[in-house]
Amino acid sequence: MRKLYTSKISGLGSYVPENVVTNDDLSKMMDTNDEWIQERTGIQERRWVVPGSGETTSSMGVKAARIAIERAKISKDDIDFIIFATLSPDYYFPGPGVQVQHALDIKTVGALDVRNQCSGFVYALSIADQYIKTGMYKNILVIGSELHSHGLDKTTRGRGVTVIFGDGAGAAILSRSEDDHKGLLSTHLHSQGEFAEELSLIAPGMGKRWVNDILKDNNPDDESYFPFMNGQFVFKNAVVRFSEVIMEGLEANGLKKEDINMLIPHQANLRISQFIQRSFRLSDDQVYNNIMHYGNTTAASVPIALTEAWEKGKINEGDLVVLAAFGSGFTWGSVIMRW
Ligand code: UT7
Repeated sequence: MRKLYTSKISGLGSYVPENVVTNDDLSKMMDTNDEWIQERTGIQERRWVVPGSGETTSSMGVKAARIAIERAKISKDDIDFIIFATLSPDYYFPGPGVQVQHALDIKTVGALDVRNQCSGFVYALSIADQYIKTGMYKNILVIGSELHSHGLDKTTRGRGVTVIFGDGAGAAILSRSEDDHKGLLSTHLHSQGEFAEELSLIAPGMGKRWVNDILKDNNPDDESYFPFMNGQFVFKNAVVRFSEVIMEGLEANGLKKEDINMLIPHQANLRISQFIQRSFRLSDDQVYNNIMHYGNTTAASVPIALTEAWEKGKINEGDLVVLAAFGSGFTWGSVIMRW
């Protein structure tokens, strides 16, 4: 069999809009309050782009990508492939991968868009890992970016969802590793489509209605354009699946819970992260959370948190780093890597 290569993260970057929206700001828009939001989710504030600023999912992704490219000490011309994970693309189609190729003036490499919501970045890393393993590509730009704030229901009707989500972007360069013992050890991915509508945004999908009917109805009470979440049901599934998929990854590598140096969970809810931390008996220093400041940024949450943990010196050479995510689909997955 031909030699398989190992992939490693060679550069990380993140970007969040400057505009901070506090829980008190939200309570002026809808019937909610700081106490409820903090108690149920841990969120204190989030970033929302200023409407009209021109900031988009792809432009934030580009900003995060520029930092990751610089830190990887490569040039844009060294990038062999682009993978962009988001649930909030600038256009219905094409996806934002091609916008990144254009904005960064990268040669005409392939650009792939991943539609796996909260686990989008984990899925994207897994795809990138396969291309590096086979030797097909050497440097892949992987982005997770979301602009939620343009698509949320900012009235009391939407409070169960709207208070949770924030805007932002994270990016990684996945490169061929010179050392087979350092880099991605495994990725594990799962889905359970029977629960697709438990966390979903139904419109403007083509499945249920003809676009002409939607335009003709022009119904301001049509909630199918806003995200829906069956919160408690999603929560219960999340805690089980997070734990399962982390264990699956550890066991596949002959590792144990005690071997984890840093766990970066998707920032869905601080209570979910704390539950996993307790069940894996990890210390505060071994789990990185930033949902307090950014809310849930879906596909961007893992790369933003990973970037921050690395910037703060919380990830060191030789550390066992675990990424895990769960969300809409349901889809979930884990990445186990040796830094
Ligand atoms: O990222 C993808 C994965 N996502 C997740 O894993 C999220 C999982 N779910 C959750 O994090 C939680 O279920 C939520 C934070 C979304 C909700 O927390 P909860 O404890 O499950 O609350 P709930 O939905 O059961 O609502 C409890 C009460 C309701 O009032 P009644 O019916 O008891 O009178 C809601 O109407 O809280 C009310 N409520 C609010 N009150 C103030 C819902 N949203 C709000 C709000 N402010 N923003």
